[in-house]
Amino acid sequence: MLSANRMHGRRTWRLTPQRWGWTLFFCLITVLFSCNKLSEPKKQFLIGFSQCSADAWREVMNEEMIRELSLHHQLSLEIKVSENNNEIQIRQIDELVEVGVDLLIVAPNEAEPLTPKIEEVFQLGIPVILIDRKTTSDQYTAFIGADNEEIGTTAAHYLAHRLGGKGSILEIRMAMSITPAQERARGFRSALAEYPDLSVIDSIEIPWDTTDMYRQFPHMIERSPKADAIFAQTDLLAEIAHRIISVGGSEDEFLFMGVDGIPGTGHGVEAVKDSILDASLLYPTGGAEAIQLADKILSGEPFDRINLLQTTVIDQANARILSAQMEKQNSLQAGIDQQIARIQNLNAVYRNQRVFISVLIVSLLLTICMGVFLWLSLKQKQRINHSLERKNAEVLEQQGKILAMSEELKVATQAKVNFFTNISHEFRTPLTLIMGFAEDLVPSNAVSQKVKQHLRLIGNNAAR
Ligand code: FRU
Repeated sequence: MLSANRMHGRRTWRLTPQRWGWTLFFCLITVLFSCNKLSEPKKQFLIGFSQCSADAWREVMNEEMIRELSLHHQLSLEIKVSENNNEIQIRQIDELVEVGVDLLIVAPNEAEPLTPKIEEVFQLGIPVILIDRKTTSDQYTAFIGADNEEIGTTAAHYLAHRLGGKGSILEIRMAMSITPAQERARGFRSALAEYPDLSVIDSIEIPWDTTDMYRQFPHMIERSPKADAIFAQTDLLAEIAHRIISVGGSEDEFLFMGVDGIPGTGHGVEAVKDSILDASLLYPTGGAEAIQLADKILSGEPFDRINLLQTTVIDQANARILSAQMEKQNSLQAGIDQQIARIQNLNAVYRNQRVFISVLIVSLLLTICMGVFLWLSLKQKQRINHSLERKNAEVLEQQGKILAMSEELKVATQAKVNFFTNISHEFRTPLTLIMGFAEDLVPSNAVSQKVKQHLRLIGNNAAR
């Protein structure tokens, strides 16, 4: 059959148990591999976050990021914190790149020293999101954070409103090497220019350490004891100013304003509520928004390059309600965190069950396959048996023929034997008579010697 097909250039493909065995083997390997994939949800992208320092405001940012991350299963996050130190931050960025981050979020400590490293990462093709602070270059993928110039402007308008457009202000700045400090100062000055009777009469810069504030501020207040307001670029600096002035008991003669508006005990919103500060400006951390933006960039969705977060004034009019709202939000958040933890647990259980079900399916498949394998083997055995039976029948038939032939041969042989027996019998009787007569005549004297010789010859030949 096969050779006939070969002769016609065709081949019959038959599912033999061997072929079935191989197919089964490959199917099982594939199923096992897919089961393996099911066991853990794959984290596709690693985000590196280089955080410049570790204060309360930045803790809020980090927490927001981690919380948001639990909603993005394909993302994982590695945070590195450098204590306001450029060299450490540069080294940490290198480490993140070495680990193979797919995207870098960075809050640069100081703009200038960090710029070349951030440009380098961007040029490597790794998307870079700047958060809160900027560099001196436009080589980055996106920016997210509040508009610090607007914060400066809003602060100036607020103080102008509280002071009736007239008065003197003491300004306490952060390190001017960081972009929020530059932008807040610029916005503050340009908005104040709208009020001819309102001006900044003194300004100090407190780079990193708040101990510097205790050193510089007493001199500032000595120089200008009659100022009307103190605008500090952070709530922390404004609170320290309040603390220092409170020692002399003249704190009620000043308006105190800061920036950040962090919720919770010991922070800006509480300071406003407790009348330590007259006002603060909400400086949103944008942790959650940064992760959402990273997700968009990594999954190739359209995104805005510049993402500005809204600010708002926190003062006596809204601090209480804001604080209550924040507390409520915190307790809701705690509930959400619990739910997320529960969902993660359930997910783990679900994953285990999926693996278990997969194993069951594999076993079932295995059983079915074994069944098919056995069935095919049985079929093949039946086919072999049939052909053996056919051959057997042929052999039996031939055997019958041979028996018949040998029977015929036997009969023929018997006939031959009978024939010879009969014929020899027929010869024997006359020959015996011939021999008898010849023997009888030999001793007789009536026959000559010659005849006797002939009679002997006759007798011998008859005997033979
Ligand atoms: C925290 C902080 C905030 C400030 C921001 C500016 O590290 O100093 O108080 O608003 O950074 O980048």
